Amino acid sequence: MLNIVKARAHTNIALIKYWGKKDPHLFIPMNSSLSLTLDEFYTDTSVKWLPVTESDVFYLNGEKQSQEETKKISAFLDLFREKSQHFSPIEVASINFVPTAAGLASSASAFAALGAAMNRLTGLDLSEEDLSTYIRRGSGSATRSVFGGFVQWTKGNSHKTSRAKFIDDASWDIGMLTLVVNSNSKKISSRQGMAHTVNTSQFYPAWVEAANQDLIAIKQAIAQRNFQKLGEITEANGMKMHGTMLGANPPFCYFEPGSILAMNAVRTLREQGYACYFTMDAGPNVKVLCRKSQMKELQTQFQALLPDLTIISSGVGQGIQILESH
Ligand code: PMV
Repeated sequence: MLNIVKARAHTNIALIKYWGKKDPHLFIPMNSSLSLTLDEFYTDTSVKWLPVTESDVFYLNGEKQSQEETKKISAFLDLFREKSQHFSPIEVASINFVPTAAGLASSASAFAALGAAMNRLTGLDLSEEDLSTYIRRGSGSATRSVFGGFVQWTKGNSHKTSRAKFIDDASWDIGMLTLVVNSNSKKISSRQGMAHTVNTSQFYPAWVEAANQDLIAIKQAIAQRNFQKLGEITEANGMKMHGTMLGANPPFCYFEPGSILAMNAVRTLREQGYACYFTMDAGPNVKVLCRKSQMKELQTQFQALLPDLTIISSGVGQGIQILESH
């Protein structure tokens, strides 16, 4: 039996978004999604068994977390403890390598790293696809961080069938810039935002239909390595997701004035011949899908148009890795 395991997982950005749960308890989504894993943002997590007389402890970036935060982690650890029938308490120590100014959610890399470490510590050694079904129950988007490159999360209809699948290593000149409009944490969590949208938005049924079609089309674009098509579908799909929120009751919106300026800058540079396309998640920052070979030049161009923004560039990330186990 191992005593300590350390794992790494990278974050991912959805090109076809996950927006809405069919089963909030099991995290079964309403639609399948597809993402790009990024190398710049990741989480390293160590897990170690504690004596049975103790209880779970959770350190994040070196700081011991509150009971409330630890409870969320314990519920996730329980999935692995029940499956493996090893019920001892665990010490979790996570370090997030997400620039604090990035304003990017780290839950995807966090739960993927924790799941990967627990998979090894408990001796379950599930395949990556099977492991993704457990990671899903920490955070939906984390499902996709199991693999590198382009990854699909197939919605499925049960715990076992809602899982990640590797699509392509994205090694064909792909990069992503993050235009940091506002690095403060979001006012409406993705969990709250999607529940409210599913329950009240008249546009929601159209979203599910569009996402299904967009997924088929983007997989074709990936298979053909057609960057323009990839970008156009990404940009349109993100906007359709944000459209569902404008149709909610009451309506809400993650855009800030700076988000609109950033999206306009992407259009301006595209008109000048740069291959770049934007997407946004449950927050005001704008992510730009681009050619890796143009990323440096594009960053300079964006900085000239948007001098106040922090801009972070990233290449394609790999899947989960075990860094240490003994
Ligand atoms: O799984 P969560 O709670 O991080 O929700 C992710 C929601 C979006 O980022 C908006 C879309 C996505 O597919 O990542």
